[in-house]
Amino acid sequence: MTAPRQAAEEAVYRFPHRHLLGIEGLSPEHISFLLDLADSYVEQNRKPDKKTDLLRGRTVINLFFETSTRTSSSFELAGKRLGGDVMNMSVSQSAIKKGETLIDTAMTLNAMHPDVLVVRHPDAGAVKLLSEKVNCSVINAGDGMHEHPTQALLDALTIRRRRGRIEGLTVAICGDILHSRVARSNIHLLTTMGAAVRVVAPPTLMPCAVERFGIEVTHDMEDGLRDCDIVMMLRLQNERMQGMFVPSTREYFRFFGLTREKLAVAKPDALVMHPGPMNRGVEIDSELADDIDRSVIREQVEMGVAVRMACLDALTREQTGNAD
Ligand code: NCD
Repeated sequence: MTAPRQAAEEAVYRFPHRHLLGIEGLSPEHISFLLDLADSYVEQNRKPDKKTDLLRGRTVINLFFETSTRTSSSFELAGKRLGGDVMNMSVSQSAIKKGETLIDTAMTLNAMHPDVLVVRHPDAGAVKLLSEKVNCSVINAGDGMHEHPTQALLDALTIRRRRGRIEGLTVAICGDILHSRVARSNIHLLTTMGAAVRVVAPPTLMPCAVERFGIEVTHDMEDGLRDCDIVMMLRLQNERMQGMFVPSTREYFRFFGLTREKLAVAKPDALVMHPGPMNRGVEIDSELADDIDRSVIREQVEMGVAVRMACLDALTREQTGNAD
């Protein structure tokens, strides 16, 4: 067997999935495999020549039913740096307005023989449904309030590169947990990898029975942040709220906005993270967000491209033979 062929078969063995629909259900070995692969792409992305031909001849379609800046641009760059042909489709402006359904759109694209569909959709479960109808691999780029697996992977890569491990760390995830697919994917990933997770939110923004995931729940920032290694802030997702969930953004900032004073109870070297886009002065103090000694928000964006390259790589190495 030739060396590249053997490497490809090992990759299938180490990542035996056809799609990446969520973090839930991935084993620690599968998560570590993607993170190790992403690490190698961080190095490649820092070189003047960032391109390989791993995806030569392959077609990646970015199908976004919701607006996105960093996720869609980083999937686009990831596909291009691997030498694939990448097409971006923003559906909210086109077919959906004419009444075409999700499945019609998917079947139309499927007929063009893509190798990977990267899909973002406002409804939880929509990406899984689509994956059952098409012949190619599907990556979930965020489905409603459900999951956003590549965000959790890029967060994990950022943490692992800074701290050397995930296991044994305490991570506080703070803010609008209720509406956040980022929180859900991170809870699955961090607990699977052996970190302790605390979620901090006002009662109105905390999902019911969230402690069933084996995490600590608090409504107080000081309790949640005490001695933690990582503080992950979330955006108030107003677009998903029907009615008022917080009295005012000023009051929200006072109790739940991250400031230097609130951060003082965390470990002295605790890192501050945010998936973006940020509402400065609502969930995070603007100056703290830009403090390069504490905030790794820019690094998260860099890791995003590497993680998406790793996911495209893992799913396309040997598409036939992958299990689900
Ligand atoms: C997140 C998302 O879309 O879920 N953003 C992102 O992917 N960079 C979080 C958010 O929108 O607040």
